[in-house]
Amino acid sequence: MKKIIANFKMNQTQSETKRYLMSFASRFKQNDKVEVTLCLPFTNLAIADLLLQNTQIKLGAQNISEFDSGSYTGEVSGSMLKEAGVEMVIIGHSERRQKFKESNKLINRKIKAALKNGLGVILCVGESLAEKNTLKTLESLRFQIEEALKGLYENELEKIIIAYEPIWAIGTGKNATAREVEYAVKVIRKVIEDDFSAKAGKDINIIYGGSLNVRNISTIMRVKGIDGALVGGASLDENVFLNMIGLI
Ligand code: 13P
Repeated sequence: MKKIIANFKMNQTQSETKRYLMSFASRFKQNDKVEVTLCLPFTNLAIADLLLQNTQIKLGAQNISEFDSGSYTGEVSGSMLKEAGVEMVIIGHSERRQKFKESNKLINRKIKAALKNGLGVILCVGESLAEKNTLKTLESLRFQIEEALKGLYENELEKIIIAYEPIWAIGTGKNATAREVEYAVKVIRKVIEDDFSAKAGKDINIIYGGSLNVRNISTIMRVKGIDGALVGGASLDENVFLNMIGLI
């Protein structure tokens, strides 16, 4: 079963998402090939939880506070997400690393906050163009994964999906090739094997994100060891997203 996850980023108001979901949920036919999760802006979670109630489509968030509760104006905690019907949360997206200066240490604390509240984690990692061009992809992925997963127990890895999202591929129209994805998958499995166990390396869920569309999704989903997709821009049009899901 492939995990197909939509990241809406900061797009759509509540009424726009309502329209999207009414169309999407009625046309999406659940099958044993895909598990679909929609990661929506906080303000759209309540309506989505309601509209997705009799479906197997899962709800995700795009951020979480490292704290439980208290004087943290503007933050949203894990328990708030859990009660809103959220099952998993994106952590470590390169947009948050770059535009909001989130450090690997903060990402590690956010992962622990998510796990503590029974939420699954979509941990995004990926190399920059400069790192790719200087053959530093392996080093970059290893560092990001090791910092993010520091202090976790092996049995917690079943709640973690690692999303390989090369920064140069996000929103650029330039997806990684099947060969590049296959290389990254091998690197990620090796890092998990080295830090946890051979079994953990084999079992960890790895998905790809970065300029996925109707033309490239089936090729990337056939890469050995890939367990799914994280779709940004192309998920915002329900017709396009449904077409992409149909190609898996
Ligand atoms: P695009 O699919 O728009 O390139 O975005 C990918 C992404 O960042 C998903 O998290």
